[in-house]
Amino acid sequence: MFEHLDRLAPDPILGLMAAFRADTDARKVDLGVGVYRDDRGDTPVMQAVREAERAVLERQRTKTYVAPAGNPAFNEALRRLALGEHSALERSERVRAVQAPGGCGALRLGAELIRAARPEAVVHVSNPTWANHVPLLCGCGLKLERYPYFEAATGGVAFEAMMDALQKLPPRSVVLLHASCHNPTGADLEEGQWRQIAALLAERELLPFIDMAYQGLGRGVAEDAFGLRLLAEQLPEALIAVSCSKNFGLYRERVGCLITVSQNGNAAEAALTQLVRIARGLYSMPPDHGAAIVAEILGNESLRGAWQRELDAMRERIVTLREAAAEALAASCPDRDFSHIVRQRGMFSYLGVDADTVRRLREAHHVYMTDDSRINVAGLRQENIAYFAEAVARALAQ
Ligand code: LMR
Repeated sequence: MFEHLDRLAPDPILGLMAAFRADTDARKVDLGVGVYRDDRGDTPVMQAVREAERAVLERQRTKTYVAPAGNPAFNEALRRLALGEHSALERSERVRAVQAPGGCGALRLGAELIRAARPEAVVHVSNPTWANHVPLLCGCGLKLERYPYFEAATGGVAFEAMMDALQKLPPRSVVLLHASCHNPTGADLEEGQWRQIAALLAERELLPFIDMAYQGLGRGVAEDAFGLRLLAEQLPEALIAVSCSKNFGLYRERVGCLITVSQNGNAAEAALTQLVRIARGLYSMPPDHGAAIVAEILGNESLRGAWQRELDAMRERIVTLREAAAEALAASCPDRDFSHIVRQRGMFSYLGVDADTVRRLREAHHVYMTDDSRINVAGLRQENIAYFAEAVARALAQ
C-alpha cells in the first residue's frame, strides 16, 4: 500500500529545528522557528504558567472528558482577551468561541467551516504568508490565492497594491489577515490602514479571517487586537483564530481558540454546532491541560497581572534586540539598509538576503534562518549580536 509514497522534504520551519539541534558548533545561532527565547537562549515556562499549573493540578480530581467545544471558562476568557473587555460584541449572541488544538487547529477549523458553508470559496492570503497557512487552509480542499502585501524596498506594507487587489475580489471571498506581528515579514498594518480595510471588506462583502498568534508581542495586548476588533465590530461576519503558544509560552500544550462572529444568534449557534461536528471528525476534543492553565491565569487578578508583566518584558526585550541588531548590521554592512528591522514588530523580520546567502550563513557560520531570510529576532542574544552581524557581512561578501 505505502511503497509508492514519496519521501518528503522536511517542513521548511520545523526542519530547521532538527538541523540546529544536530549542529555541535558552540557559536550556533537559532533564528529559525518562531519561539521566544530569553538572553540565555532558553524558552522558559512563564512564572504565571507555573503557578496556574500548580493550582490546576491541585484542584483536578478527574481526567474525564471536558466538553466538545472545550473548556467554557477558557473560551469565555479568550473571547474577552481577543475582542476586549468593553466591546459591544463581547457579550453579543452573535459571537461563539471553540477551543482548538493551537492556532493551527483553530485555522483548520475555520477553513473547514468555510468549506462546509461554501465549498467553492477562495481564501486570499498575503504574499508572503506563514508557510503553514497553505496546508492548513488548502488541506480541506479550499482554493488559495495571494494578494500583494510586502514592499521589499521599504520593509513595510505595499498598502496601495494590497487595496487594489482586494478591491477586485468577488463578493464572499475570504481574506486572511495577520492581526499583528506579521509572519514572516514583521510588517504590520497601521490603524488608519485597518480602517480602510474594514470599509473595503464591508463594501465588497468579503469575509475576514484573522490569524492572531502573537497578541501582546507587537505593541501590546489591546494594540495588537486593534484591527481584529474593528473588523469584528464593523462587519456582519468574521472568523478569528487565536493562539496561546507564544504569548503564554504554551507551545507544546497546543492551546488555541476559534472565534466566530455571525449575522445573528441563530447563525452563530449553527456555526458552533458545525464546528463541534467538524472537530469530532478530526480529533474529537481539544487537549485540556494548557487551556485550563490559561483560564486560571485570566480568571485570577494576581496571576493575570504577573502574566501581563512577563509578556510586557518579553515584548520590550524584542524591541531592544531589534535596535541592537539593526545597529550591529549597520556597522558590519555599511552599504546595506537594515533600518526596517527597528520599524517592524513581533518576532520576525526579513533580513532581505538571497537563499544562497542564507545557506552560507547556515553552513559556514552556523546561523539558522528560513530560506526566505526570515529571522526570529527573539532568538538573538546581546552576546551574539556582534557575531551574527559579522556573519551576515561575511556571507554577503562570499
Ligand atoms: C513559526 O512561524 O516559526 C512558528 O509559528 C512555529 C511554526 O509552527 O511554524
